[in-house]
Amino acid sequence: MPGSKKVFIKTYGCQMNVYDSERMNEALAPYGYAAASSLQDADLVVLNTCHIREKAAEKVYSELGRLRQLKAERRAAGKETIITVAGCVAQAEGQEIIARAAVVDVVIGPQNYHRLPEMIFRAKSEARQIVATDFPNEDKFKWLPERAPRRAAAAFLTVQEGCDKFCTFCVVPYTRGVEFSRPVSQLLDEARQLIAGGVREITLLGQNVNAYHGIGPDGQTWSLARLINAMAELEELQRIRYTTSHPRDMSDDLIATHRDQPKLMPYLHLPFQAGSDRILAAMNRKHSAQDYLELIARIRQARPDLALSTDIIVGFPGETDEEFQQTLAIVAEVGFAQAYSFKYSPRPGTPAASIADQLPEEVKSERLQALQSLLDGQQQSFNASCVGKVFPVLFERAGRQSGQIIGRSPYLQPVHTAAETTLLGRILPVEISAAGPNSLSGVIKAA
Ligand code: SAH
Ligand code: SF4
Ligand code: F3S
Repeated sequence: MPGSKKVFIKTYGCQMNVYDSERMNEALAPYGYAAASSLQDADLVVLNTCHIREKAAEKVYSELGRLRQLKAERRAAGKETIITVAGCVAQAEGQEIIARAAVVDVVIGPQNYHRLPEMIFRAKSEARQIVATDFPNEDKFKWLPERAPRRAAAAFLTVQEGCDKFCTFCVVPYTRGVEFSRPVSQLLDEARQLIAGGVREITLLGQNVNAYHGIGPDGQTWSLARLINAMAELEELQRIRYTTSHPRDMSDDLIATHRDQPKLMPYLHLPFQAGSDRILAAMNRKHSAQDYLELIARIRQARPDLALSTDIIVGFPGETDEEFQQTLAIVAEVGFAQAYSFKYSPRPGTPAASIADQLPEEVKSERLQALQSLLDGQQQSFNASCVGKVFPVLFERAGRQSGQIIGRSPYLQPVHTAAETTLLGRILPVEISAAGPNSLSGVIKAA
């Protein structure tokens, strides 16, 4: 019976988890699960977890503590609650979660989401804890149902999963497995389903999206650039983005696509992690600081108005103050519209975690603060430079105040404007009148 049971999925981590949560919701719908409005209301709770830093992983256990209470309360009221841990903590810690948290009924890794309804059924009927964290050979995407109609005009689409890069600080190659690219025809089908459901902007996702090398309908291996150009042929699709990229895979055809493909938005998230060549080598990033700067110059030559974003880690084991200064120097030289920066967090099983020279927490905090104040300034001045310009804005959602709607600029900035929700899903010219630290506001120009 559709809607007879309620599911609440709580999502942590990156956009790929956001995408996966949507797919899990869609996989559960045919089994009668509708979205719960609150945790208290849920017959099934799924925590879609992230393992990237210690803090992220620890959140899961504190949430499970709260869920134990909730499950007991619901049981006292005669209601059953199934607790599922999905995502990267599930994949990394599998059995350990079961041992640590008796409240958990199902542990399921990202490669097994097509089996989620079956695992829940088994946990109930066999009245025991179930762990599904193998990497099955079958393509899960073949078994997941079609994409449901959407409330928002922008959607994610995972085109590539896993990573073979093995940066020495990172858990992703262990939690998401080897690199795998989905076939082009499957992706075009999914894009058509999204468009039929009202989507006008698609962000192609992958842990290493620009390493995409999927089989095309012609039997050849297609690059990300070729995939983007094929997607752009879908008439009603108006905007394309992709994330996250590795500098090593920023190929010439992809750079050329930034110049030639008007539907590809002028925004690029390109992590550089650190400014010192010694640290970059210890991270196994396989590029130097100079390589990164030269790459940025080539991309900007192809698309001068492109806005850049990045990821940076401070306090990698053994990083000296001088080496940290080199990170600041790259930031100063490139100028980022937006950025994510993190204190290095040792992850069990990764090579960098066993380097002897781990830095004290205070040093990491100090460096992060210095870096973030530089980055915040750059973001503010980028936003300020937009005032007076007219941007095409894709309106995605209603604002908090009535009579206000929010969309995105080509550079991914949220743009607030006074207008009716009937304009959601449309791209309209907006004259930017004010800039805040994280968003813009403006007025729709009459056509
Ligand atoms: N695939 C992407 C990003 C993966 S994770 C890439 O290659 O860039 C997102 C970001 O988290 C990374 O870019 C990195 O900056 C950060 N990160 C990963 N592992 C980390 C760790 N152990 N400690 C701190 N930050 C980390
Ligand atoms: Fe992690 Fe490096 Fe792979 Fe990115 S490229 S997912 S940082 S191992
Ligand atoms: Fe986190 Fe897994 Fe994404 S570790 S960042 S949820 S790939």
